[in-house]
Amino acid sequence: MSDLYCVFGNPIAHSKSPAIHAAFAAATGQELNYVARLAAVDGFFAAMSDFVAAGGKGANVTVPFKEDAYRASTRLSERAARAGAVNTLAFAGDEIVGDNTDGAGLVRDIVHNLGFPVAGKRILLLGAGGASRGVIAPLLAEKPASLFIANRSSEKAVGLAGAFADMASIEAGSFEQTAGRSFDLVINATSASLSGENLPLPAGIFAPGCLAYDMMYGRGDTPFLAMARQQGAARLADGLGMLVEQAAEAFFVWRGVRPATGEVLAALRAKLAE
Ligand code: ATR
Repeated sequence: MSDLYCVFGNPIAHSKSPAIHAAFAAATGQELNYVARLAAVDGFFAAMSDFVAAGGKGANVTVPFKEDAYRASTRLSERAARAGAVNTLAFAGDEIVGDNTDGAGLVRDIVHNLGFPVAGKRILLLGAGGASRGVIAPLLAEKPASLFIANRSSEKAVGLAGAFADMASIEAGSFEQTAGRSFDLVINATSASLSGENLPLPAGIFAPGCLAYDMMYGRGDTPFLAMARQQGAARLADGLGMLVEQAAEAFFVWRGVRPATGEVLAALRAKLAE
């Protein structure tokens, strides 16, 4: 019988993860079965226990369960501990090992797929929730020139910057406080796109050659990317590449084999445009 994996989420029906992991398995010759599992909003622990009892070897975890998965882990990777959230679980005997591949996925998409080195760049990170927290340490590890975290509620941005103060000196504040500054890499980690809302960003934040990156994705420009395009950002990217790369990193965590991602990403991109 092939090894069993799943992704937990709520909702989960439209998850692309089963197709992505099936493609990785086929391409690497790994035998595994990866399914989507819906858990009740207050039922993550029960759903996880059922899955382990059924022989599950590992799981991905998406909205809204990443913090539940963090708490359920008996052991955490350093990057999961830093992120305060877990998107990848490995079940080994009595151990529940929590990892977080989101930041690695983002950095790999930016640096490798988009060919945009983060080293030496001035980064503006928008948002101070879980999505933002998960990518800070991997971004800092690339040695950017600076990092500014901007958020609707500036206290949350300041608090988040403080949590990483041992790694680097990070600036933080409101969106308005970025006025007069410009950045080489602007990453949207807010969930504002979900409600179709625009962020109140001052004009002029996109430096020449700037990459505007939205961790969200969808058909056509997200609201953030539409704004960035209008303001003349040189390059635009959505989070589809991050989705595929965090999956590849999880696959590597479980199987010790790193799948190629180019074809899977191209196929998803084509499907999104249909
Ligand atoms: P996630 O796990 O996706 O990061 P979260 O922890 O709820 O979810 O954080 C959501 C982020 O998006 C926060 O930074 C939030 O700003 P606040 O901290 O001020 O609430 C931000 N956000 C959500 N909707 C937004 C909007 N309409 N405009 C600006 N920021 C928004």
